[in-house]
Amino acid sequence: MTKERTAGSPKAHRGHRPGESVRVLIRHALIKQRLKQLAKEIRRDFPTEPLHLVSVLKGSVFFLTDLARELGGEVSFDFLAVSSYGKGTDSTGEVKLIKDLDVSIEGRSVIVVEDILDTGLTLKYLLRLFEEKKPKHLRVVVLLDKVERRIADVRADYTGFTIPNEFVVGYGLDYDERYRNLPDVCVLQLGSRAKA
Ligand code: IMP
Repeated sequence: MTKERTAGSPKAHRGHRPGESVRVLIRHALIKQRLKQLAKEIRRDFPTEPLHLVSVLKGSVFFLTDLARELGGEVSFDFLAVSSYGKGTDSTGEVKLIKDLDVSIEGRSVIVVEDILDTGLTLKYLLRLFEEKKPKHLRVVVLLDKVERRIADVRADYTGFTIPNEFVVGYGLDYDERYRNLPDVCVLQLGSRAKA
């Protein structure tokens, strides 16, 4: 392989800007392995039930699609969009609905699929919103849980990984809309030259 091809390969260029770097926290292979287990746990609780996966754009997209394929059985999904984080790494604490679900969840077995549970404010808002719509079941699966950061009194029914209080990117998670396409979950390190 030529030098040029190596340097230009997607793995060599991870989308960094000056002053930004990433450190792998959870490898893709481990994520995929854990997803199989999570799907089993969920199917153990709902063996034959059609499951309606509901997810917040855009951070959970890879998680939802990979999980949906592991679940088997009848699965449908829908998306909503909220604004919580701005461009930086810290929460404003505000949650606003930007895009509602396309179809009703009334009478359905709903699994809320979240990328990361941080302060818990987003999930608290979502659960209140969904409970009013009278689903048959309402459960929460999160890929990552930053337990230390919790403000709202919420918890997931199924958790992929508990992680330390660090800002993570990759596998759908972004910093300023970048890094979502990294296959691994990585800790983002910002140097003095980095711009939020
Ligand atoms: P919460 O409302 O503070 O629990 O935050 C939920 C949302 O904030 C997540 O769905 C993510 O979109 C975003 N978020 C929280 N922590 C991180 C992080 O470490 N990296 C990227 N996004 C994050």
